[in-house]
Amino acid sequence: MRALTDGRGLLFGGDYNPEQWPEHVWAEDVELMRAAGVNLVTVGVFSWARIEPEPGVRDFAWLDRVLDLMHGAGIAVDLATPTASPPPWLGHRWPSTLPVDERGHRLWYGSRNQFCPNSPIYRKRALSIVTDLAERYAAHPALALWHVGNEYGQVCHCDDSADAFRTWLRGRYGDLDTLNEAWGTTFWSQRYSDWAEIIPPRHAPYLINPSQRLDWRRFCSDALLAHFRAERDILREHTPDHPVTTNFMGFFKPVDYARWAGEQDLVSNDCYPDPGDPLSPARTALTHDLMRGLGQGRPWLLMEQTTSAVNWRPHNLPKPPGQFRLESLQALARGADGLCYFQWRASAFGAERFHAAMLPHAGPDTRLHAAVRAHGRELRRLACVAGEPVPARVAMVFDWESWWALEEPGRPSDRLNADEQLLRYYLPLWERGVSVDVVPPSAELGAYALVVAPNLFLISDEDAAAVTAYARAGGVLVVGPFSGVVDPRAHVRTGRFPAPLREVLGASGEEWLPAQDGPVRCRWAGGGAFEAHTWTESLAAEGAEPVAEFAEGDLAGRPAVLRHRFGNGVAWYVATLPEPEALGELTERVLRDAGIAGALPMSVLPPGLEAVRRGEVLFLLNHGDGTATVPVPHPAEDLLTGTSVTDHVTLAPREVAALRENRPHEPA
Ligand code: GAL
Repeated sequence: MRALTDGRGLLFGGDYNPEQWPEHVWAEDVELMRAAGVNLVTVGVFSWARIEPEPGVRDFAWLDRVLDLMHGAGIAVDLATPTASPPPWLGHRWPSTLPVDERGHRLWYGSRNQFCPNSPIYRKRALSIVTDLAERYAAHPALALWHVGNEYGQVCHCDDSADAFRTWLRGRYGDLDTLNEAWGTTFWSQRYSDWAEIIPPRHAPYLINPSQRLDWRRFCSDALLAHFRAERDILREHTPDHPVTTNFMGFFKPVDYARWAGEQDLVSNDCYPDPGDPLSPARTALTHDLMRGLGQGRPWLLMEQTTSAVNWRPHNLPKPPGQFRLESLQALARGADGLCYFQWRASAFGAERFHAAMLPHAGPDTRLHAAVRAHGRELRRLACVAGEPVPARVAMVFDWESWWALEEPGRPSDRLNADEQLLRYYLPLWERGVSVDVVPPSAELGAYALVVAPNLFLISDEDAAAVTAYARAGGVLVVGPFSGVVDPRAHVRTGRFPAPLREVLGASGEEWLPAQDGPVRCRWAGGGAFEAHTWTESLAAEGAEPVAEFAEGDLAGRPAVLRHRFGNGVAWYVATLPEPEALGELTERVLRDAGIAGALPMSVLPPGLEAVRRGEVLFLLNHGDGTATVPVPHPAEDLLTGTSVTDHVTLAPREVAALRENRPHEPA
């Protein structure tokens, strides 16, 4: 990221699709980009058919002109490999390159993403165009970053994919006996006697083997990763000094980003908060914290966001004035060194005609474009933030494999979901201005004062040992319900649950009990009641102290929340879903255990106010509907307005303060 921001400052720009416009428009684009302070554009994402109009033919002349133009204007190019959207000729001549769904239906061209990542023909053609692109532009001075494909996520159930799945399984299990054992194929007469019998989980009469489905998900993510790597390696061979990325999509279930992140030079993400969802600000903050966690704390790039409405929700609310700026600054505050948009100029045709852009159909003389220009300018005032860390003493553990395994059909309740649990536990921290890194369970946890694992349904022995060791060594650990249930094969760990976490939690249980609709009444051990819902467990304390118990029904008097002094640390287990206020109270107790305070000298911030520190700057962002006045910990200068702040700040809705505090910088 530093290679990109050095000399440029924070990155600002967006996807640029000049192939949709006559060339005289390009000149206007460049002029307006310069006026807006654009310094990075992503070019070529969907240009395969333009570069290779017929198989084997190449037309780079137009792209040469685009890159020259950008270079002449001092705008860096994030050059995309165009392999996310093959031209119709590929599917027409080689239908086996088209993806097949689980019912065996082939998906056609006429849209985008219509490729099978396991098709040797697709891969050969894709790598060939990537090689030519890399050769042609390796030395071009506009080239700053490579953008591989776009939003990887394709899944295909065709015969090529079945072959590749078998190869992957051979690599994992070696022989069929081991696979049969791992998949538990004595169940329902599923034993495989020949590798050729193994297929992707295609549409079947009833529930499919969960171990097979879990491996299929692992395989699908790995198959895309293999293709990403192949493209990346070609690019690296030609331009060893240019960073390579591919754009993630937040908590996107099909692809295990924790396995992918280390394969890129920088993490980039596309983020489209729903303007109609009141939880969007916290959800988005959580996503940004995931991106930072995936990059092990390094700055990341917001590759795509929108200035206003998208076109792909059923009813597309626009963003009110000030909203996209607020969201951009939120990403910056949470570690992004680049704030880019989809897309520069709104398309006049095609499926995204009604998607907002930096330059709307109505042209530059518009409220929206004026706001874009103003935002581009103000980012220069925040250049000191580039490269700075977002210090966090809390880690939230999130694991794709566990997510996949938890949300298989045929479980006690489909109302317990991994990403929702994560958000549930994140909210009270966000509302208190406590910074969080979202990390995989294998991360180095020792540096955190608090580790929260809202759900770890699937956990390996090693990860269970690591969280146990973390608490023993003095950490504060919080574990949510239905954790420690299955091993990496998706087999239930027998014995009292959560078997591998029983020691650290000082408690164990014998039944998972999804609750009737309606509240589950609970009481705090120290007095006071609260409500929970959806889920209960029948537990016994084994050294842990019950902090709350169920107050009614068969579980009356049994523990609902436990706290265990363990080694030098403390482990909490929460066996139900407390309603938000109760989770807030629990969070405060846990923060006290861990000795953590929020960014502001107050506990719960005014509704919608976000407080997060990045480097020397304390960002305050008002996502709420009302004006918020808050005390600040130190006198400061607001970098956005140039004004001095002594003891408090008042922010109207959608306003932001970026307070550089007048005190020596404490390294993270
Ligand atoms: C992203 C995609 C862009 C554009 C955008 C619209 O998913 O990468 O190409 O389609 O969404 O919101």
